[in-house]
Amino acid sequence: MSKRLRKVVFPVAGLGTRFLPATKVVAKEMLPVVDKPLIQYAVDEAVDAGADTLVFVTNRYKHAIADYFDKAYELESKLAQSGKNDLLAMVQGTLPRHVRCVFVTQPEALGLGHAVLCAKPVVGDEPFGVVLPDDLIWNGKGPGALRQMAELAADEHAGVIAVEEVPREQTHKYGIVDATPVSHRAAKINLVVEKPRPELAPSNLAIVGRYVLPGRIFELLENTKPGAGGEIQLTDAIEALLAEQSVLAYRFEGTRFDCGNKLGLVKATLAMALEDPQLAEATRGFMREVAC
Ligand code: UTP
Repeated sequence: MSKRLRKVVFPVAGLGTRFLPATKVVAKEMLPVVDKPLIQYAVDEAVDAGADTLVFVTNRYKHAIADYFDKAYELESKLAQSGKNDLLAMVQGTLPRHVRCVFVTQPEALGLGHAVLCAKPVVGDEPFGVVLPDDLIWNGKGPGALRQMAELAADEHAGVIAVEEVPREQTHKYGIVDATPVSHRAAKINLVVEKPRPELAPSNLAIVGRYVLPGRIFELLENTKPGAGGEIQLTDAIEALLAEQSVLAYRFEGTRFDCGNKLGLVKATLAMALEDPQLAEATRGFMREVAC
């Protein structure tokens, strides 16, 4: 069985209210971390996992994402004419040539589960990845989190969900799993609970924004009633999937930055600046200066 994940879905139709007023006009996924928008990090991770079909679930305000991955004729010809080949390569390198983008619309923000369901006509009945771009997961030169998960999913013929240990007092912000360890990083999920209060949480293993799911999840989503917050929750469909087949929780190798909130975006920006040889020293100096 191929360990490649051909299709990856990016649900990007949320309203991004935590970044208002910027998100009045700028899609959250286009917010930059140093010089690349969040969506570029997410796409790079999907391509690293083997994807050749990227499915963006957008809304009518998010044209910028399609524009970003489109050819920029005027800019490219200006850069070519002026011999700025490095910049030209950068502009042309947002997407490898063999990768295609498909855009589908989620007419109303009815929840993450509903957004994933909107991708059904493109994905069909094969295992696929889901990447939430506001969880930026960085693993340096090592394999991206989604690639690690795709390999495990192919080896075990199972769905795989990324999890991370969170402080107990934060369980109410996440889907929390109860799982039985099967290896150093993987555990078989017994139960998923959406946003439990700390005293009711079965563990502190929180679901974060990466999934490898079978096509069957679409039928389960079609039968999922609105749950917490009146939204169609992906975790409810995963709960139904658990009754039929194994789903693994996977503690990925890498660092996650929750760029869906302001502090997470600041931390990601500093971390990525420290990864950049041209910025690292000055950034470190600045951090020392402001820490005093
Ligand atoms: P969030 O819970 O972060 O919501 O969605 P949001 O709207 O993006 O941001 P806030 O909370 O208002 O600041 C998690 C992911 O699910 C997608 C979002 O785009 C984000 O990638 N999503 C959520 C949808 O695509 N559609 C929805 O109806 C809800």
